[in-house]
Amino acid sequence: MALPQGFIEELHEKNDIVEIVSSHVELKRFGRLYRALCPFHSEKTASFTVYPDTQSFYCFGCGVGGDVITFVMKQENFDYMAAVRFLSERVGLLIPDDDGEDESHRRRKIYDANKKAARFFYSSLNSDEGRGARGYLRKRGLADSTIKRFGIGYAPSGWRNLYEAMLSQGLNEEVLFYSGLCGKGKKGPYDIFRNRIIFPIIDLSGNVAGFGGRSMGEGAKYINTSETSVFRKRRNLYALNIARKSSERSMILVEGYMDVISLHQEGLDNAIATLGTAITPEQARIISKYSDEVVLAYDTDGAGKSATNKAIAVFRKIGMPTRIPDLSGSKDPDEFIKEYGAESFKIRISKSGSSIDYELSKARENNPVELDSGVAFLREATAIISSSDLKAEREIYAGKLSEEFNVDKNTIMTMIERAGRKRYKRNSEEVVFKASDIKKRFDFSSSMKMQLGSVASEQRLISLFFLNPDLVKEYGKELEENFFKSKYVSEIYEELKKSVESGSFFGIGSLSGKISEDAMNMLTKSISEPELINFSREDVEFYIERIRTLNNKLDFTDVIEMDSNELRDHLESKRNEVKEGNE
Ligand code: CTP
Ligand code: MN
Repeated sequence: MALPQGFIEELHEKNDIVEIVSSHVELKRFGRLYRALCPFHSEKTASFTVYPDTQSFYCFGCGVGGDVITFVMKQENFDYMAAVRFLSERVGLLIPDDDGEDESHRRRKIYDANKKAARFFYSSLNSDEGRGARGYLRKRGLADSTIKRFGIGYAPSGWRNLYEAMLSQGLNEEVLFYSGLCGKGKKGPYDIFRNRIIFPIIDLSGNVAGFGGRSMGEGAKYINTSETSVFRKRRNLYALNIARKSSERSMILVEGYMDVISLHQEGLDNAIATLGTAITPEQARIISKYSDEVVLAYDTDGAGKSATNKAIAVFRKIGMPTRIPDLSGSKDPDEFIKEYGAESFKIRISKSGSSIDYELSKARENNPVELDSGVAFLREATAIISSSDLKAEREIYAGKLSEEFNVDKNTIMTMIERAGRKRYKRNSEEVVFKASDIKKRFDFSSSMKMQLGSVASEQRLISLFFLNPDLVKEYGKELEENFFKSKYVSEIYEELKKSVESGSFFGIGSLSGKISEDAMNMLTKSISEPELINFSREDVEFYIERIRTLNNKLDFTDVIEMDSNELRDHLESKRNEVKEGNE
């Protein structure tokens, strides 16, 4: 629902960002700004910054930023409306009523339908129809108490079991559709889950957000509830509601529902799973709020190994350490624990190495040292070690390699540092060279800004517009359609213009909830640059001109079909043209 801007403004006035943030982390004042250890990723030096002037925050470590609403969303794992509700209640503001059905009302109805559906599935499992499913679960070793604890149920065969049961409990049809429980077919409404074991997915507030269903017969082995306003696959995690209360300071991340359940049954109550998707940065951040370390215990097949590699990278980005236990011999944790028991599992974890050890042992397999005296391995190994951002850790590994290969430790350290610089460069380019991103228009990471001035100029310009909204009125008219090429900048510009033109713009809170998370991160970073305070009209005109020139020189249409190598060459040559043109 669209909240009136006046209300949003008042909400921001009454909820000072410094006050809200300081109730969660310890802020230290530095002149006009505050710093703290970031609550969204683990770090040892304070790179989380709060700006009272713009009522915004930005973390230079993990790149997350926003206004007070964004902060509450991330801190409490709320969606936009829940954060608004939280902040309103805090200061005694009433959320104005929209006529018709508002978002929070709809969400409550979905939760209610899901709860009733979960009860229906649970009692179906324990009815006659559920006999087969009960037998299956018993065969897989689940105790009744486990079934109860996870609320596991059964969706009977047939097209309208749930549908009829819900209507007879007084639910209306509409809610069954928008909660993803039923679909609308040619022959009328039908149940999405049929002849499936049902795993309810409970969110952190204890509500049933959605379901996973394992087939007992035909169809895909697993299906999930479709995305609804309360169920986001990229955000929810299975069993996090239980695992976050575990006394362990680590979490065990596994692939499937059954893995989670088996581990919990054996007393490992810190196991969680994503919902059939690769781990997202958002999920990683959520996990990092409840633990200090993640044990990656994916399936031991090829798919599991590649998922492990991806997960290592995702957690590394937010500074979260991972370990990878060796479960070879079993197909997945579920099988492992059944065969060898919880104690062996724990031993495997305690013996397991860090992600660096894991990658080193893979590198060893790929580069047998007997063949070439170890140089190829050393090259790969130093690249791997360079991913650690702890100097002490790099030194320890360098020491080990130095002993093993009888090479001077300093030589190895030099290789490591060089690999580190190379990777830093490559990472920052990767963002640019992904062809799929180019199709959706351009975006650049910060270190590319220097090289491709147009995005840097766009970010500068949009920040000046943001901080001085009168400029939008003054210069907005002379900018041609699609003037901004950066996806995020053009997204921000559209919303900013709307807000300024309607006279409701009051700052960062006018954009929160309206622009994407990534755009918000970019903006809060960009407006935090101190040079922006002293600007002149010439600066604005300079940026406009520069963007225009670069837009004409860089042709964005002919790159779409290129693969990343061609793209790299192409951009390189374009850059040179631009450089020459400027000289
Ligand atoms: N998954 C999915 N869709 C599939 C297969 C799997 O979404 N077609 C997801 C599910 O979340 C599942 C996880 O991937 O829990 C792991 O899949 P898999 O290893 O096939 O499942 P297991 O847990 O080993 O399955 P089971 O033990 O039930 O045979
Ligand atoms: Mn599996």
